[in-house]
Amino acid sequence: MTSLHILYASTSGHTEYVVGVLADFLAKHAPELVVTRAVAEVAQPDDFTKADVLLLASGTWNTGGIEGQLNPHMDVLLKKRAKDVDLAGKACAAISLGDDRYYYTGRAVEHLQQFIKTHNGAQALPSLMIVNEPYGQEDKVCKWGQKLLDTFATR
Ligand SMILES: Cc1cc2nc3c(=O)[nH]c(=O)nc-3n(C[C@H](O)[C@H](O)[C@H](O)COP(=O)(O)O)c2cc1C
Repeated sequence: MTSLHILYASTSGHTEYVVGVLADFLAKHAPELVVTRAVAEVAQPDDFTKADVLLLASGTWNTGGIEGQLNPHMDVLLKKRAKDVDLAGKACAAISLGDDRYYYTGRAVEHLQQFIKTHNGAQALPSLMIVNEPYGQEDKVCKWGQKLLDTFATR
């Protein structure tokens, strides 16, 4: 892996924080890796295919009135603007956030994984789920970042 592109949606800043922690970890431990990011609000179909590895990150919302959905911006991106994207076997990963006050805790992950699968992506490693505020959960994010690096070190 020489490049990683992160597409994320964040409303109260939690997902953005997690993406920032991950990017800092990768900059420190894999300085040769080019890490770029874009928010779902402005992302276009070519954002999905521009890097070696695609990472999708979203909080869980009640988009459309039902709990357990994608953040509204990620929902519009994946279901409308990027609905015809062909990932053509690209290595992909996913991060979801949620809150355990909701029954469908962190279920945005299922929508992200489903998108990867139905658009011919290859999920490279199990998804990361951060439940409740991410502040204080930096170790979990960094351990997952290490797994991401390990996954590609062996390829
Ligand atoms: C309107 C709304 C609906 C939410 N629905 C869910 C949900 O169904 N399941 C869940 O686990 N968390 C739910 N959450 C919690 C968020 O996923 C959680 O706070 C997350 O960290 C927000 O990330 P963000 O700040 O990056 O948007 C909801 C939050 C809001 C504001």
